[in-house]
Amino acid sequence: MNESTTFKALVVRELENGSFFRSIEQKRIDELPAGEVLIKNKYAGLNYKDALSASGHKGISRNYPHTPGVDACGLVDSSESSDFSKGDEVIVTGNDLGMNTSGGFQEYIRVPSGWVVPKPAHLSSKEAMVYGTAGFTAALSLYKMEKMGQTPEMGPILVTGATGGVGSMAIGILAKAGYEVIASTGKKDADAHLKKLGASRIVDRSFANDESGKPLLRSQWAGAIDTVGGNTLATCVKGCQRKGSIASCGLVGNHELNMTVYPFLLNGVNILGVDSAETDMKLREQIWHRLSKEWKVSDLISFGSFISLDGIIDQMDLILEGKTKGRVVVEF
Ligand SMILES: NC(=O)c1ccc[n+]([C@@H]2O[C@H](COP(=O)([O-])OP(=O)(O)OC[C@H]3O[C@@H](n4cnc5c(N)ncnc54)[C@H](OP(=O)(O)O)[C@@H]3O)[C@@H](O)[C@H]2O)c1
Repeated sequence: MNESTTFKALVVRELENGSFFRSIEQKRIDELPAGEVLIKNKYAGLNYKDALSASGHKGISRNYPHTPGVDACGLVDSSESSDFSKGDEVIVTGNDLGMNTSGGFQEYIRVPSGWVVPKPAHLSSKEAMVYGTAGFTAALSLYKMEKMGQTPEMGPILVTGATGGVGSMAIGILAKAGYEVIASTGKKDADAHLKKLGASRIVDRSFANDESGKPLLRSQWAGAIDTVGGNTLATCVKGCQRKGSIASCGLVGNHELNMTVYPFLLNGVNILGVDSAETDMKLREQIWHRLSKEWKVSDLISFGSFISLDGIIDQMDLILEGKTKGRVVVEF
């Protein structure tokens, strides 16, 4: 491997008319950013954020041409850090990968050693990317909820955007951790997928979108993992039983939150912010370890759809339309 070696990459270019064009191109190693660890990717997971980056969302990626992809997993090709050696199996998710740093949708990435997590022994590379940032975020949500005292005995957990990446992984992890799960979805054909993950009750999206305007609702869940935001997040909080926690991790519906403070003051409900990209390394390794052991989703691989790098272009439109189910993973 030398700096002029070429490899395949998804490249998003900004055109003169202001639109963005995605294509698979050949890149050279010397076009990758500086970093201590060069990784040959085996798998890369698709996230909602990647599709935003690939659509020219300047809040995610400022400069183009750009290769998106916030998740990657593969083998160390070379390392200037003594923490890693050629052939080590590693995971990189979050930090700045795929945002303003060239990301996972290419055969090689080069990153700072501080972003690299050794792959846990009980997880294959393929399984790691079925989780990806989605699984990591779902696990971080549960970790934070349990820190605030959430237990399975308190009652069911509501998961919104249930068939999406974060939602699907949240259901699987919660079920594995012993929680009863209520899955809220907009899809009519998702029962088999959600039941297989471990959901005990499946409800329509409208269940978690209260429009009565009431400041508090009859409590029907003991906590929630919300990927939708807006009025759905407000509903999660208003309908949560006393002392329960709501992990706010997404905004596919809306980025605003309009509600009163009554659920916090009268019911002691907690709203927890989840910022997976910035998780420090010690906690990151701890979460990946739990994902590989006691929280490992049963039959994890079956919740991934595996595609070639060329297939990623169409999948990005589908995820933006909320039409994907589970996790889409590029296999190199
Ligand atoms: N905080 C963090 O660290 C972090 C990390 C990862 C992701 N996220 C965020 O989490 C969210 C989900 O990401 P993802 O990768 O799981 O995306 P995804 O796979 O596209 O899942 C989103 C799901 O939400 C539902 N949905 C889509 N549009 C909706 C709408 N307008 N109203 C209500 N529900 C809608 C759909 O599920 P149903 O059809 O089943 O309802 C969809 O499958 C995104 O906002 C992403 O940016 C945050």
